Amino acid sequence: MKEKINRLRKEKNAVILAHYYQTGEIQDIADCVGDSLALAQWAAQTTADIIALCGVHFMGETAKILCPDKKVLAPDLNAGCSLADSCPADRFADWASRYPGYTVISYVNTTAAVKAVTDVVVTSTNARQIVESFPKDTNILFGPDKNLGNYINSLTGRNMLLWDGACHVHEQFSLEKIIELKKRYPEAAIITHPECKQPVIQVSDFVGSTAALLKYTIQSGKKQFIVATESGVIHEMKKQSPDKEFIPAPPNDSTCACNECSFMRLNTLEKLYNCLLNETPEITVDASIREKAVRPVRRMLELSKQLGL
Ligand code: 13P
Ligand code: SF4
Repeated sequence: MKEKINRLRKEKNAVILAHYYQTGEIQDIADCVGDSLALAQWAAQTTADIIALCGVHFMGETAKILCPDKKVLAPDLNAGCSLADSCPADRFADWASRYPGYTVISYVNTTAAVKAVTDVVVTSTNARQIVESFPKDTNILFGPDKNLGNYINSLTGRNMLLWDGACHVHEQFSLEKIIELKKRYPEAAIITHPECKQPVIQVSDFVGSTAALLKYTIQSGKKQFIVATESGVIHEMKKQSPDKEFIPAPPNDSTCACNECSFMRLNTLEKLYNCLLNETPEITVDASIREKAVRPVRRMLELSKQLGL
């Protein structure tokens, strides 16, 4: 399968971009593995004719918004996102219309139609800095992730109004089970994604985006980490720091030891091969929506560049 994928990507001038929450074998075959921001940055820069986006639907849409002339393929179109689903575009537009004069900041985990009614898009890597790039008295609507929004409000002293959305994976981490793990591994650092609920964030030694968590594990002098984000990222953490130990934080109400995003895990090597072979399923974005959605996405990329991210 790997040889066949390698042959196809060469023949078709295709690039394979994968999120850290993909299975290890997809991460290993990808040209680039990164978080949501890195995927958008690579998509914006690639000279490939085809982008095979191994992640979830909104990530493919973001690539298509940035590269309307390229073919953007997804191994499985059913790979959605509960957080994006928690924010229907019509309801979001209606909410925003009730606050004239407010700046609308949307997390990248949204549909293209939500991005079309947004002033600037953010990811977990740049959200804090982009919010802080606005004057302190700016009235801001932030959606859809209320946990990330609350976290940024607490860090910055802002009072952004928040959409009531969340990621079912990150909300599922159990504080009690994390505390139990900390008793078993007293030397371990608890590292957490800001999509998690506040009590989990409060007991954490470090909070950051997927890429920031990875960087922390590389740079930290600690040898053990309790990882409160989707467990796929542990694959790269182990590759980068083979001498360190990574303990996945478990979800609530489950006997499973780790927490996986069922949408992300829909993608397989075989589906990746088939999508490259057949050039389908393809991600499409309506031209009128794309025209509006590209502005806040480009604005995010420009701000990230200025901020050195
Ligand atoms: P980042 O890739 O920005 O860390 O976001 C995590 C996530 O949940 C992606 O779906
Ligand atoms: Fe969406 Fe959560 Fe899965 Fe990320 S981990 S794709 S936010 S459901």
